[in-house]
Amino acid sequence: MAEVVIVPDRAAAGALIAEEIAALIARRPDAVLGLATGSTPLPVYEALRSRLAGVDVSRVRAFALDEYVGLDPAHPESYRSVIAREVVEPLGLDPDRIRVPDGTLDGIEHHGEDYEAAIAAAGGVDLQILGIGTDGHIGFNEPGSSFASRTRVKTLTRQTRADNARFFPSIDDVPRHCITQGLGTILDARHLVLLAFGERKAAAVAGAVEGAVTASLPGSAIQLHPHVTVVIDEPAASRLAHADYYREAFAGKPEWQGL
Ligand code: PGA
Repeated sequence: MAEVVIVPDRAAAGALIAEEIAALIARRPDAVLGLATGSTPLPVYEALRSRLAGVDVSRVRAFALDEYVGLDPAHPESYRSVIAREVVEPLGLDPDRIRVPDGTLDGIEHHGEDYEAAIAAAGGVDLQILGIGTDGHIGFNEPGSSFASRTRVKTLTRQTRADNARFFPSIDDVPRHCITQGLGTILDARHLVLLAFGERKAAAVAGAVEGAVTASLPGSAIQLHPHVTVVIDEPAASRLAHADYYREAFAGKPEWQGL
């Protein structure tokens, strides 16, 4: 099962995962990171700024989970722009080693396959950061997504568009389509780190960690992966049946085991 770590706040989650990423880069200077967008991963990127200061990150590679389809890549809310602004520039990564799925319409039917080929050529993702949507999506794999799915174009749910409307002038400006790594793509990463904060995520977290494995709650796909770390705050943990057990297990864990 996933290891569940309940932390006091977002900053503690960021520090914990930044440490894990720093250790990975120390072991493997050309590590392949899986990047997520949205508000959830920001504490990790924030913590990495100080944790990676002075560390040679020139060979680090990364792949983003998803992108809007049809949004100008130069738009400030395209995930290409967000990844550049929140991750690549502040951490001093080499932009040529960072990829975001191509959501431009020209040749869109091939962009998924191309992205899969690029991930395979890089040797796969070492550590994949994930958020979870209130509807249970990971990446932009909305309810009903196949557990075997690969990078492809999907239609966003109304709920996801409403959740993301805060980044746009209105919900009508939120794109209707996206290109996202599939659940099969995500499950190929060697270590999954799913973060969630706040009571709004509690139902999705409980479903993903303790509910039935079902395409109706795509986050439940993590139960099929042998190495998953779920890092959540108390409100996001509030609907877990076994929270006390997770606390006890993490508190008693020998340090050599790591995350
Ligand atoms: P959020 O989105 O981090 O903005 O809450 C999470 C997600 O949709 O995966």
